[in-house]
Amino acid sequence: MPTQPADTNYILRGSLLTFHEDPDLKGEKAYTYIEDGIVLISAGRIQSIGPFETFQHLTAHPGFQDYRGHLILPGFIDAHCHYPQIEMIASPGKQLLDWLQDYTFPTERRFQDAEHAGQIADFFLSELLRQGTTSAAVFATVHPQSVDAFFEAAHQRNMRMICGKVMMDSLAPEWLRDSAEQSYLDSRTLLQKWHHTGRQAYAITPRFALSSSEAQLQLAGELYAEFPDCYLQTHLSENQEELVQVRQRFPEQRDYLDVYDRFGLLGERSLFGHGIYLNEREFKRLQESRSQVVFCPSSNLFLGSGLFNLKGFQEHAMGYAIGTDIGAGSSLSMLSTLAEAYKISQLQGVPLDPLKCFYLATLGNARALKLEDKIGSLAVGNEADLVVLDFQATPLLALRENRAQSLAERLFAMLMLGDDRAIKATFIAGEKLHTRA
Ligand code: GUN
Ligand code: ZN
Repeated sequence: MPTQPADTNYILRGSLLTFHEDPDLKGEKAYTYIEDGIVLISAGRIQSIGPFETFQHLTAHPGFQDYRGHLILPGFIDAHCHYPQIEMIASPGKQLLDWLQDYTFPTERRFQDAEHAGQIADFFLSELLRQGTTSAAVFATVHPQSVDAFFEAAHQRNMRMICGKVMMDSLAPEWLRDSAEQSYLDSRTLLQKWHHTGRQAYAITPRFALSSSEAQLQLAGELYAEFPDCYLQTHLSENQEELVQVRQRFPEQRDYLDVYDRFGLLGERSLFGHGIYLNEREFKRLQESRSQVVFCPSSNLFLGSGLFNLKGFQEHAMGYAIGTDIGAGSSLSMLSTLAEAYKISQLQGVPLDPLKCFYLATLGNARALKLEDKIGSLAVGNEADLVVLDFQATPLLALRENRAQSLAERLFAMLMLGDDRAIKATFIAGEKLHTRA
């Protein structure tokens, strides 16, 4: 279905928050907050923002929406998730490798059926909208039709998405494996079909070191070299048993990251989920190659994987992205994900600042995904992907918000107590695709 720019023009009134920089680096200069502001949306883009006084004459416009008492932000971005796993969220009692075998692989098997894939893709994207998430980097399954189904659903909604076919010729049962050669050919075909189709982008997606032969990793690297403006996404150093097995399988590599490095999989468009157990050399090599690590707090806690080394990232002055990692993650909400991140930061004595949290889920993730010229902030000319948060969404949230003394305190209450009930509206490229009654 062709995607047209939205022809609805909106004028939104509310409190506005948008970041220009990382608040850890620039403090109060990192963001703009306008208590009573206006966002003007035209042809799917942000045309202007500013204080309400400047735009008072527009209140009679048919597209005027009064969100006073609400916070208008750039839409949330999820930098790591698996859409097919939405139906197995909350599967108990296992750590990574058993969880994959017992729950994940049987669930992903169902995506050989294109109709099923389409239904779940629709459900997943509707859930994202209900949570205020407007973009995501998403794993499909080993089946090419799972990628087509996802991109078709995202393209139809005009949502900016990154997705790729899982490349997996090892570890999984035979019924969920591809071959090195076929995975290369299928990925290449999908990439050429979808990369830059509307708002869609392709990620070459070898699942992780243990589920690919060397031949497959080699071909993933060759494909990445052929199409360097695509993304590469995979998993890195998530679980202790995984680390032991990676060491056994690749004894000649210095560490886990070195396995990916050997096949040319590092780079500034490479997204590595988890990265919990990184050594000094890996930190340096990630930094040097400008690769991105995606912190997935609820998943790390849910699977008992471990605590992301926030202190290590701080000491190396390295940024990181943030993701839900659905279905190992326990919530699709970026608010809940940030709340879990905060608790992990507390356990390490480096508490995350509330403004930093909102930066991570918006501009921080947009930067990690190399999309900051399009999404992640309320910059003029950006695509109008927005979320409207309701500070009075629940009695408890309202009670706590009404006592808050500062913006940071209000934001913190929102991320600790807010969930889908706090998502008043979600806009995609200037179209309102979700409203909470
Ligand atoms: N490592 C390899 N595959 C997966 C997956 O599907 N989820 C998580 N959390 N880790 C993985
Ligand atoms: Zn994952």
